[in-house]
Amino acid sequence: MTISCIPASDALGAVISDVDLAKTLDSETVGALQKIWAENLVMIFRGQSLSDDDLIRFSSHFGECEKAPIGDSVLEQDIPPEITVVSNVMEDGKPIGFLGTGELTWHTDMSYIPEPSDASGLYAIEVADGPGGETSFLNMYSAYDTLPADLLAKIEDRTANHDSSYTSAGTLRTGLAEVTDVSKAPGARHRLLRTHPVTGRTALYLGRRPNSYILDLSVPDSESLLDEVWSHTTQDKFVYTHRWEKGDLVFWDNRCVMHRREPFDAGERRIMHRTQLKGAAPFYRA
Ligand code: OGA
Ligand code: MN
Repeated sequence: MTISCIPASDALGAVISDVDLAKTLDSETVGALQKIWAENLVMIFRGQSLSDDDLIRFSSHFGECEKAPIGDSVLEQDIPPEITVVSNVMEDGKPIGFLGTGELTWHTDMSYIPEPSDASGLYAIEVADGPGGETSFLNMYSAYDTLPADLLAKIEDRTANHDSSYTSAGTLRTGLAEVTDVSKAPGARHRLLRTHPVTGRTALYLGRRPNSYILDLSVPDSESLLDEVWSHTTQDKFVYTHRWEKGDLVFWDNRCVMHRREPFDAGERRIMHRTQLKGAAPFYRA
């Protein structure tokens, strides 16, 4: 199988065609995809027709699929434990999935736990007609590579707390208290710079802006340093925005990519199935 691949934008992302992910991939194709992924950070496949098992099998070429976090507020469905439903659709008075219709602010998946997922795949089963519901991805290697020297010096040895109280949709998680002092927020601590285990490149690792806190600084100093880093990072030139079509699979690397989502009209239906994984499987090294 010969796959074709074109850049999705100047910033990051590759649109890959001539591959049917519902079929078993040969090792040559898998190797080619692992290389494309390491070099482009986000893989985009259009026009796929995938079962949950196909999505899990494809994802497993890049790591080990994790069990989806369970939320009691979501309708129980007969789907494999590796699949999370991301949707606003209601059935029997309950949402069938997570994250509603609102904006999702810039974030990296699961950065509020000590060992976050390394990658996530999102497969579009039903999409909003739009405008709205687009998902943007940001190249955190580029954000690092272009840091002004004085800003780099201020953050290179710093560690931040990644608050676990709220979802990327801004909803307070069940059982957690509102954050009134960011220096006391629960969550996980990660260095602001991280080395990617496959590419060896350094990336900024910010998680999300709300309730973030840089350790060992006063809250006002942490806020102003975070504002400076975030305003450098969230430049359009580092971003690719994906306009979804049914049958798209977008697969991204949380170790070097942040993402966000535009809100969409509550009258629209959007159903995505997601995998999340740890890059434990042996695979391509740069
Ligand atoms: C996610 C996520 C974005 C979207 O599933 O982690 O951020 O467009 N989804 O729904
Ligand atoms: Mn996310």
